Amino acid sequence: MDKETLMLTVAVLGGTGKEGKGLAYRWAKAGYKILIGSRTPEKAVSTAAEIIEMMDGSGSVVGMSNPEAAEQADIVVLTVPYSAHRDTLEAIKDVMKGKLFVDVTVPLVPPKVSKVQMPPAGSAAQEAKELLGEGVEIVASFQNVSHEHLLGEASVDCDVLVTGTSKNARHEVLKLVEAAGLIGWDAGPIENSVVVEGLTSVLIYINKQYGSTHSGIRITGADNK
Ligand SMILES: NC(=O)c1ccc[n+]([C@@H]2O[C@H](COP(=O)([O-])OP(=O)(O)OC[C@H]3O[C@@H](n4cnc5c(N)ncnc54)[C@H](OP(=O)(O)O)[C@@H]3O)[C@@H](O)[C@H]2O)c1
Repeated sequence: MDKETLMLTVAVLGGTGKEGKGLAYRWAKAGYKILIGSRTPEKAVSTAAEIIEMMDGSGSVVGMSNPEAAEQADIVVLTVPYSAHRDTLEAIKDVMKGKLFVDVTVPLVPPKVSKVQMPPAGSAAQEAKELLGEGVEIVASFQNVSHEHLLGEASVDCDVLVTGTSKNARHEVLKLVEAAGLIGWDAGPIENSVVVEGLTSVLIYINKQYGSTHSGIRITGADNK
C-alpha cells in the first residue's frame, strides 16, 4: 500500500457490529487510520480498544459517534442494517461533501432475507446517492463478503465487486479491498449495485440450502491485475 493511501482516515459507521468490526480490523492491520462510529460513543471506544488489543497494542483505531467519525474521515464506510440506513445517512449528510462514501448495506427485508427485495431507488447505494446529493462520491462494495472470517488472519475465499459513481472512487475502494486481503473487481457504475446487493440474498439462500454460513463469489476468466 502506498504511503499516500495509508495517510487516509477511514470511518466505519456501525463499526461496532459484525461486518464493520471485521473490515475495520483488516484495514487497521494494513495501516489505515480507523475511526469506529456508533450511536453510542462508549460502545465505539470499547470496540476500538478490542481491535487494538487484537493487534497487540499497535494500530490507529479510535471510537466516537457516527457524525464525528464521518466528519473526521476521508472515506466513510457504512455498515448498519438496512432499517438504520436512512437515519444514519440523515445524521451525517451535512459533513459528507467532498468525501468518498462506501455503502456495505444490503437492503434485506426481514423475515424474507433470502428473497431479493430492492428499494424504489434501485439499491441501498442509489438511495444513499439521492440522500447525500451532489459532491459525494458513492461506492457500493463488500455486500457479498460474510463477516465470518474477517476477524481471522486467513485470506477470505471470496471476490469483491466494486460499483460506484466514478472510476477514481472505485479505484480508491479497490485499494481497500486489497488491504482487506481480498480480490476486487471494478464492476462498473453505481446502477450495477442493484445486482451486487441483490446477490447477497442469493448467497443467503444458498447458505440455507447447503448448510453453509459464508458462501461467496469468484470471478473467473479474467485477470484483475
Ligand atoms: N454480517 C455479514 O456477514 C454481512 C455481510 C455483508 C454485508 N452485510 C451488511 O452490512 C450491514 C451490517 O451488517 P452487520 O451484520 O454487521 O449488522 P449488525 O452487527 O447487526 O449491526 C451493525 C451495527 O449497526 C448499528 N445498528 C444496529 N441496529 C441499528 C438501528 N436500528 N439503528 C441504527 N444503528 C443500528 C449498531 O451499531 P451501534 O449500536 O454501535 O450504533 C450495530 O453494531 C448490513 O446492511 C448487512 O446486510 C453484512
